[in-house]
Amino acid sequence: MAETLSGICAVILAAGAGSRLGYPNERGGKPMVEALGKPLLAYGLERLAGAGLQDVALVVNPTNRPVIEAFAGDGRKWGLKITYVVQETPLGIAHALSLCQEFSGRRNVLLLLVDNLFAANIDAAVAAYAQNPGDKAEIFLVPVPNPQDYGVAVVEAGQVRRLVEKPQQFISDLAVIGLYFYPPTVYDFIPQLKPSARGELEITDVNSLFLQQGRLRCCKLDGWWIDVGNAERLAEAERLLAE
Ligand code: DAU
Repeated sequence: MAETLSGICAVILAAGAGSRLGYPNERGGKPMVEALGKPLLAYGLERLAGAGLQDVALVVNPTNRPVIEAFAGDGRKWGLKITYVVQETPLGIAHALSLCQEFSGRRNVLLLLVDNLFAANIDAAVAAYAQNPGDKAEIFLVPVPNPQDYGVAVVEAGQVRRLVEKPQQFISDLAVIGLYFYPPTVYDFIPQLKPSARGELEITDVNSLFLQQGRLRCCKLDGWWIDVGNAERLAEAERLLAE
């Protein structure tokens, strides 16, 4: 296990329903969807603990909260300290993050979407960011055959030039995965956001504001990545996890 990191906390977004995967909020929703017999939430918590993080805010919704809390408790079994934050309505990833401002305080933030599973070891990247965030945000990119389903980055000479949420026309095959590192100033951007066409405060708009200010770093992630959005992707994740 990595050394414990100070100056960085984590936020896991776990307020989404997983009804398409047979886990409505009453059964815990997406975070409790099992891959190889283990809830997605457990993969996220293990990963954060393994990277040396200690303090985690878990954003849940009013209906899935009791199930999630019964499973994860105070986080002790992973060596973590979990604080529960309730998002009453799913108004977007950036909205869910904004609810964690008081929890984060002056610390840097690692934001993880609970339905994202990936192979890469991120321990070194987390430690490097915790040591030198440089008031910049950092995003992680993976090439995919279906970029229209994700936030997408256009990269030239190693620099992000443009970010688009679910582009209808092809602009790049580099998906922005659901893992983000932010300095504490991230919370200053969120009040400036307007809801998108799907009525949400988009994390891609937050990242675009960092980009406009020349404060966005990107890193290509090796290995597989899956956003567990439907039964097919869950089956694929289970196949890859088993390998
Ligand atoms: O998986 C990576 C993608 O995640 C990125 O490429 C996109 O840029 C990003 O917008 C996001 O896209 P999705 O459409 O897949 O996000 P989704 O609505 O599925 O939400 C992702 C997770 O965040 C999900 O487990 C539930 C949680 N969530 C989502 C919303 C909108 C919340 O906790 N609260 C919310 O209000």
